[in-house]
Amino acid sequence: MPTVTIDGHGVPTLRKMDMDQFDVVVIGGGPGGYVAAIRAAQLGFKVACIDDWKNAKGLPAPGGTCTNVGCIPSKALLQSSEHFDHAQHHFAEHGITASGVTMDVAKMLARKDKVVRQNNDGILYLLKKNKVTFFHGRGSFARGATDGVYQIDVTEPAKISIQGMHIIIATGSVARALPGAAFDEKLVLSNDGALRIGETPKTLGVIGAGVIGLEMGSVWRRLGADVTVLEGLPVFLGVVDEQVAKEALKLFTKQGLKINLGVKVGAIKPGTNNVSVEYTTADGKTENVTFDRLIVSIGRVPNTNGLNADAAGVKLDERGFIAVDGDCKTTAANVWAVGDVVRGPMLAHKAEEEGVAVAERLAGQHPHIDFNCIPWVIYTSPEIAWVGQTEQQLQAAGVAYKAGSFPFMANGRARALGNTDGFVKIIADAKTDKVLGMHAVGPMVSELIAEGVMAMEFGASSEDIARICHAHPTLSEATKEAALAVDKRTLNM
Ligand code: FAD
Ligand code: NAI
Repeated sequence: MPTVTIDGHGVPTLRKMDMDQFDVVVIGGGPGGYVAAIRAAQLGFKVACIDDWKNAKGLPAPGGTCTNVGCIPSKALLQSSEHFDHAQHHFAEHGITASGVTMDVAKMLARKDKVVRQNNDGILYLLKKNKVTFFHGRGSFARGATDGVYQIDVTEPAKISIQGMHIIIATGSVARALPGAAFDEKLVLSNDGALRIGETPKTLGVIGAGVIGLEMGSVWRRLGADVTVLEGLPVFLGVVDEQVAKEALKLFTKQGLKINLGVKVGAIKPGTNNVSVEYTTADGKTENVTFDRLIVSIGRVPNTNGLNADAAGVKLDERGFIAVDGDCKTTAANVWAVGDVVRGPMLAHKAEEEGVAVAERLAGQHPHIDFNCIPWVIYTSPEIAWVGQTEQQLQAAGVAYKAGSFPFMANGRARALGNTDGFVKIIADAKTDKVLGMHAVGPMVSELIAEGVMAMEFGASSEDIARICHAHPTLSEATKEAALAVDKRTLNM
């Protein structure tokens, strides 16, 4: 057994370690895990990172859901399908004639796979550069800590047992299936299958009008599929600012997404080449529709499969997430958990921030994450982005606020781009003018939202944003104008 000492940070650590002994063992190599591993190594810890994701050739593919079947491949397909859409519908207004435009789906998927591989390789390089030992396989707790040291067994394809003083669990999440409609990834698709449909389906059903449903629905609609979205709730994007959600619903419907709200989905029956879905509409009609493919995107569940967390004294909460406190500490000493496997938004950047924070806590630092300042983006066209409180949340909490909006229609850059849908809204405290939220739907608002996040992190007022010089002509001027609108003094509207 290795000797436990107290290092310079006042943190218990293993010293004079054998090859299989580590200060920190990270289980999971997604954005939460690999980033935690890198930060811990930067802080001087000896670190191992275990990840089981395999590519088609059975080789390590770190990066987790985000890199392999989430953020990165979905954005690659959104980009390809957007180019296709532009070539078909928007080039002409620029005077460009593009006739006979076709989409080679296989080539598009191969490009997406290449982008994924570049990210996998990049992560392997970063782990190596930071001297993190990578193990390709599944990690599980052998038992609880013995003299403060945990044994983690790694299997498939690796077969080794390693020891760690501090364990960071970052095992992520998996798609939630509908009861009675298991994913076969051929006809009934999770995010995984939705990202590798080999040819554009004529008809595509999507259950759940959430983030995946809208992003993947948009990809396949742009490529020519007739897309029907079945959403259980009576409201569209209930967590989003109402004005933004209303505008987005109008625009997506105009683009051709058939979005049905307040639907109750019944029997789902996969056939040989298609799948039938029975559902009751909001006004009580029973429908039975057949789709070439069906994407089920009704949320994700934490992944603690095979971790043997219980043996180590790591408790789950009532929803199956690993129970953690505000600092990501689990119920077992020196075991931490970050990312999708714990409470909070299932977002890659949230996972990364938690990973970094845990590594820094191990080194005796005092990082802080403000969950109210975590931005959200839906990468549809137009994009939707927000941070902080919505008007509805503030009304419910009885907070007095002022709101200012500015439409892209009045923004010079948006006009030059030919993309004038949507607006930016800034919400500020009625008394102090402190920025409480930013909500936007429109071109590239995924990039604009960073200004709102920074304003909120710095405790800025709307007046601060309004007084900052924004380059002209940029989309970001819409943010400045929205801040001016809070004080009813826009200059360009
Ligand atoms: P994961 O990324 O899930 O990584 C966990 C890793 O641990 C996986 O590789 C898994 O195989 C491995 N693992 C699990 N158990 C073990 C074990 N016992 N031993 C070894 N390895 C194990 N978020 C955004 O912020 N922006 C986006 O644009 C975005 N787009 C998305 C699109 C889709 C289609 C999906 C499905 C998700 C998207 N997300 C997006 C969400 C984002 O992917 C997740 O929030 C993020 O990946 C969570 O990171 P994580 O590190 O917690 O877990
Ligand atoms: P989601 O939570 O975003 O949306 C699920 C939708 O399905 C909700 O609108 C819900 O009301 C609906 N629903 C649930 N059960 C239903 C049922 N039985 N019938 C009909 N509708 C039902 O979940 P989604 O889209 O699966 O994505 C999971 C998570 O992945 C997201 O919440 C997000 O955290 C992450 N993600 C993030 C992205 C981004 O940041 N751009 C992109 C994609 C995913």
